Amino acid sequence: MTDYSDVLDDVRRGMIPAHIYNDRGIFELEKRKIFSRAWIFVGHESEIAQPGDYVVRRVLEDSFIVTRDEDGCVRAHFNMCLHRGMQVCRAEMGNASHFRCPYHGWSYRNDGRIVGLPFHQEAYGGEEGFARKGQRLLPAPNIGIYNGMIFLSLDAGAPPLEEYLGDFRFYLDFYTKQSPGGIELHGPQRWRIKANWKIGAENFAGDMYHTPQTHTSVVEIGLFREPNAQKRKEGALYWAGNGGGTTYKLPDGTLEERLRYVGYPDPMIERMKQCWSAEQLAIIGTDGFMFSAASLYPNMSFVHNWPKVGTSDDVLPFITLRQWQPISEDETEVLSWFAVDAAAPEDFKALSYKAYLMCFGSTGMFEQDDVENWVSLTNTAAGSMARRLLLNSRMGLLADGSEVAPRLSAEQFSGPGIARQGYSEFNQRELLRRWADDLARPSADPAVAAASNGAAANGESRAVSRK
Ligand code: FES
Ligand SMILES: [Fe+2]
Repeated sequence: MTDYSDVLDDVRRGMIPAHIYNDRGIFELEKRKIFSRAWIFVGHESEIAQPGDYVVRRVLEDSFIVTRDEDGCVRAHFNMCLHRGMQVCRAEMGNASHFRCPYHGWSYRNDGRIVGLPFHQEAYGGEEGFARKGQRLLPAPNIGIYNGMIFLSLDAGAPPLEEYLGDFRFYLDFYTKQSPGGIELHGPQRWRIKANWKIGAENFAGDMYHTPQTHTSVVEIGLFREPNAQKRKEGALYWAGNGGGTTYKLPDGTLEERLRYVGYPDPMIERMKQCWSAEQLAIIGTDGFMFSAASLYPNMSFVHNWPKVGTSDDVLPFITLRQWQPISEDETEVLSWFAVDAAAPEDFKALSYKAYLMCFGSTGMFEQDDVENWVSLTNTAAGSMARRLLLNSRMGLLADGSEVAPRLSAEQFSGPGIARQGYSEFNQRELLRRWADDLARPSADPAVAAASNGAAANGESRAVSRK
């Protein structure tokens, strides 16, 4: 097996071997060492609000039916029939009390238990010959929910989701808990890009530096008040737990004035004040930073921004959640959801959706600008010269490793983790440091993995009760 230790060492010092963005061997390693154990976002509870609602989502090659059973429990079943392995559910989403396999017709309740076997008596000798009791679709090894966001891990021994998220939860609340009822998701739009999955995750984690250049045309048409070079430079970057993101510096004002400045109506502001901690409110109201793009390791990202949606100068905020689902070393399926506070007024929701579609999603202007860079990078990373090139990802560091600018103090930035103002690539390095650490870990013992699968196959089932 190829030894990648030099590659990982280079990555850790911020010099990235260019071929990691298009390398079959690296991708195989990522599958085994990252996606076989990390917590991967698969959907939101609002997508399966009613008993029987389901969505079909993947963790790399593994398809799961994520459903709410009749008792209100959220479950994730491996989407493969126990008989001859047909994909049980072929629809992308819907509502069903049962799933019937299209091949020979075995059927399963939405809690995963097998219920129907055609010609059970004649073919199997009935219950005596083949007991249906205890037979169920294979459950995902691990399922966790935070603010309605449903995550799966293929590792039964993964640390609890909340521990994995760590202090990034503080920032997740800005995107996913603006009122006690939380957000609702619409979508996802899904499309494929010929780009490596890591590039989007890195970009959203901390690349404030690209905005004035890549998105020049969006700046020119005046869609945003903010993404000029000066404005982005004043923002703060933060990293906490397993995620990090970017912010914009807001003009002087009170908490309420600043939230109004980005387009939130007063009733929504009141609910945010009830929902967020004093420290969360202080980031906006006292420190003057408004959260923007962010990434959660390994492959989930968020955006919050506030374009002009009409002919006036008024802006309106939108939120998108997205996943960079790897297909191969040079292809990624993007899943992009529109997220909005469930308690928001209907006219706000409609305009916020329009704001999202203008900027992100399959037709979004920002999305199109970004992807052109990422496809080009991926293409160029495939050749032999890319194997000789170390990309410079050391922005914010001096040659001796000390930092160009001091970190923000607790008085300047009220959130957990480390925050810095100005352009830098600290967050991209944080993301890739986790990537390098995961790739360097010893492989999980296949016997242990098999044993945990066996426990699941024997009927052990994991579910998360409705909160
Ligand atoms: S493969 Fe599903 S019923 Fe035969
Ligand atoms: Fe961008």
